[in-house]
Amino acid sequence: MKLEIYESEEALAQTLASTIAAAIRAHPNIVLGLPTGRTPLALYRALVALTREEHLDWSGVRTFNLDEFVGLGDRAVGSYHRFMHENLFDHVSVRPEHIGFLDGRSPDVDAECERYERAIAQAGGIDLMVLGIGANGHIGFNEPCDVLPARTHRVVLEEPTRAANARWFGGNMSAVPRAALSMGMATILNAREVVLMATGEGKVDAVREMMTGGITTELPASFLQLHPRVTVMLDEAAAAGLQA
Ligand code: F6R
Repeated sequence: MKLEIYESEEALAQTLASTIAAAIRAHPNIVLGLPTGRTPLALYRALVALTREEHLDWSGVRTFNLDEFVGLGDRAVGSYHRFMHENLFDHVSVRPEHIGFLDGRSPDVDAECERYERAIAQAGGIDLMVLGIGANGHIGFNEPCDVLPARTHRVVLEEPTRAANARWFGGNMSAVPRAALSMGMATILNAREVVLMATGEGKVDAVREMMTGGITTELPASFLQLHPRVTVMLDEAAAAGLQA
């Protein structure tokens, strides 16, 4: 894994936004895998600003988000789909039909997960997968467990993960759904290139274990060690466990 440490979250976000903008210019039909959460907020702000400054054309870009809550429609409060519209999609020229999202309201979850895998394959696979990491080492909604489903699947959420997501539901933990749909680790590892961002001291342990520990379903991010092209972008706070 290639490691890059930045002096601030903002510097990290600016660098990654410039890299993504350059990739879009070089490959206008690029397929991006995208995360939600606190970490990518600075990245999406920087990308929106760069898009405006440089008149970046997103009309050929395709996107696939990592995950979505079960039971939430695309504009529902707290849905990841709404998050993406508010923070990125509504501010760039990506075509609505090029936005790939798991449908949290699908009555047939298994069929929906299979549809998503097919849609990614039909788009030619993901060129650049951008990831965050949970404090417990989760990626997407692949939580620590004994057996990790390889492909897109339904997940019952851990209480700490629900608590971490309460902020998207006005701080009301009881409003956070108990299940989600998520790309599996094999879906993620199939991307041609992966960039993982982690910022803040809350990620120190997860980052250290991901980079220096063994590969284990107890820390799903550790599976990224199997990928030949992973860049780990950290701020100094998240990198503290590596420098010690
Ligand atoms: C969400 C996702 C999650 C987050 C992780 C970190 O789409 O993929 O794995 O990346 O929960 O979340 P933040 O950035 O809020 O700390």
